[in-house]
Amino acid sequence: MKPWTRYPLWLGELFTGAKSFAANPIIGSERLNRYGLHAGRVWAAYWISRLRMAFFAPGVPKADREQFQTLGYVLKENYLPQEQFERLVTAVRHYEGEIRECLQGDTRTHRVLLSPEVLETLPEVKAVLEKPSLKRLFRYCAGHARLPICHIENVHNGSRDSVTERDPQKNLHVDTFQPTMKFWLYLEEVSDVNGPFVFVPGSNHPHRERLKWEYEMSLRAREHADRYTARGSFRVSAEEAERLGVSGPTAFKVKGNTLLIGNTFGVHARGNAEPGSSRLALWGMSRTNPFLPLPGLGFNAFNRLQYRVLQRERDRADAKAAAQGGQSSWHVIDQRRL
Ligand SMILES: [Fe+2]
Repeated sequence: MKPWTRYPLWLGELFTGAKSFAANPIIGSERLNRYGLHAGRVWAAYWISRLRMAFFAPGVPKADREQFQTLGYVLKENYLPQEQFERLVTAVRHYEGEIRECLQGDTRTHRVLLSPEVLETLPEVKAVLEKPSLKRLFRYCAGHARLPICHIENVHNGSRDSVTERDPQKNLHVDTFQPTMKFWLYLEEVSDVNGPFVFVPGSNHPHRERLKWEYEMSLRAREHADRYTARGSFRVSAEEAERLGVSGPTAFKVKGNTLLIGNTFGVHARGNAEPGSSRLALWGMSRTNPFLPLPGLGFNAFNRLQYRVLQRERDRADAKAAAQGGQSSWHVIDQRRL
């Protein structure tokens, strides 16, 4: 296909969550970004998402909404009754089935996709994810009626001896230009040993300083030496992090049974951890087209469909990688237990 024939597609991507400066020459255009294309997308995505969130405010405690909007996260300790929490942990630790793995630097991340079929075999997990108050909070923080795609996640730190490359998630960064919800329900204590989530409170706003930074980054992102930045997930220096929030990076060292929901448009990182450690959690994320003003439909059928779509994408990536004699980035491993 001739490059110019792809321009309509690239143009259309401006109205989606497409974020790569390297892959899309319109998004990456220094000239257009000088006119404010990227900064404009950031600003519009934020305010349209706020509009969608407003639809889901009823039934969500004011304190949670304020914390999420002011600081960029909601933190709830002792989230489940102790007995329920213990049953949940036991069920997860006894899970046996398909596990996928992603290798980044010296970190191995294991995930179990909590599709409706898997959830049927894990009633303790299902009971938590179907809590009406949690679903309301998810929908509010995501600004969308569709629930997040959920997994069991076990992060194994420093478990690849031969690798010297640093885990890219451990550098401060923003995920993308649009508000994005990610959550963790920690199933064990999180400390400096197994790597706390690090977040810059207040960095979830497109305030003047943030827009200025986005503007400057957008002028050089396409050719940036850091490939994640070039793909639209900007890395952030310690000095910039100070300017982008109300305080510097905060590490969430929390007990098990803590629920954390963050807006990863804010500046964050996976905290440093000791080699050989691991961190077990229920994890999920939600991201939608940032420019749609309507909050979507929350029918169960749509929630089920998103798992099927993801599973199919994974299967396709497996087949493609196998044809080239390799492994997909999220490949199935032989191990059946977390
Ligand atoms: Fe991230």
